[in-house]
Amino acid sequence: MAPTPTRDDKFSFGLWTIGYNGSDPFGGPTRPQLDVVEAVTKLAELGAYGLTFHDNDLFEFGSTDTERQKQIDRLKQAMADTGIVVPMVTTNLFSAPVFKDGGFTSNDRGVRRYALRKVMRQIDLGAELGAETLVMWGGREGAEYDSSKDIQSALARYRESVNLLAQYVTDKGYGIRFAIEPKPNEPRGDILLPTLGHALAFVETLDKPELFGVNPEVGHEQMAGLNFAAGIAQALDAGKLFHIDLNGQRSIKYDQDLVFGHGDLQNAFALVDLLENGGPGGGQAYTGPRHFDYKPSRTEDISGVWDSAAANMRTYLLLKERAAAFRADPEVQEVLRTAQVAELSTPTLGAGESHDDLLADRSAFEEFDTDAYFGGKGFGFVRLQQLALEHLLGAR
Ligand code: GCO
Ligand code: MN
Ligand code: MN
Repeated sequence: MAPTPTRDDKFSFGLWTIGYNGSDPFGGPTRPQLDVVEAVTKLAELGAYGLTFHDNDLFEFGSTDTERQKQIDRLKQAMADTGIVVPMVTTNLFSAPVFKDGGFTSNDRGVRRYALRKVMRQIDLGAELGAETLVMWGGREGAEYDSSKDIQSALARYRESVNLLAQYVTDKGYGIRFAIEPKPNEPRGDILLPTLGHALAFVETLDKPELFGVNPEVGHEQMAGLNFAAGIAQALDAGKLFHIDLNGQRSIKYDQDLVFGHGDLQNAFALVDLLENGGPGGGQAYTGPRHFDYKPSRTEDISGVWDSAAANMRTYLLLKERAAAFRADPEVQEVLRTAQVAELSTPTLGAGESHDDLLADRSAFEEFDTDAYFGGKGFGFVRLQQLALEHLLGAR
């Protein structure tokens, strides 16, 4: 019995996720195109609260102003009819042939100027619809060949672009912040800002770093062999978790975009525990949208699409329940104490203690008996992990 999703859970979906028609590099579509009104209606029925989209998920690249406006109006009507909101928008700078060498960082200056205009137009639309976040996933910002891309110039052009966009939202008075979405590769052989860490470092070089954070995706960090929950903890530590893309990935391979939990389930458990219980004082560490960026497998028909959309939310809520039970279990609490997990939050130095005071403390070094210190006693981390696993399996 899993709880039913409600709007308060803040589940959102990209229009390109449920709208994925099954095309891949080896074969064409297996499903017809999904209409935005049907998408919004069905998401509301399933208990989601938000829809996100790239400009060209809603209206085709190259649409006339009239065609574009017609689709915007249809979306607005569907939002009014269902209460679905648009918390985030993003811009497609990767599908059209003109972006074959990227948008912000194409070697071609004309393309870079066009890309900026396309994003500004999507920012205007996002602001009109009440979006709070603009995600920037630079799938084509990269290269296959080292000699073909001057990475330092590419980073300078990326910086120039996003500085301009930050100035634009400021001058317009829009309440929009930017979230950079890292990915190591695919479609480019190597993508700029490939991991969370690269993106966090880049943000600090911008004119208005306070307007920039990250939108990490489970599978993207795992494509680089990294621990997603640990990366999210670092993004939270930096105050930069502006948005999140939840999905599943099974090891280092192509970007699978599976349903959340259909990849590394133990890390998904740790992630939900962190987001829901890892805040100061044990509250929510992240209060933004729980956004799913997955692809319903091309083997599925439209009912399989909606089953998979529901599965993302159901799994999240099941993990949330399991994480709460894990935290409440007295045996877990005892093992956590033995493992000294909470002790790590105690500062290493005493209040006001200086390096001279530390040097004067003989118990810290001269009298610190490293051989006898633990008396052969272990931390019990394995027992703790087994308890987590048993809660995850519903065995406790
Ligand atoms: C991927 C990415 C994209 C981005 C999206 C937002 O799977 O490679 O997740 O889906 O999230 O394009 O801009
Ligand atoms: Mn992905
Ligand atoms: Mn994504």
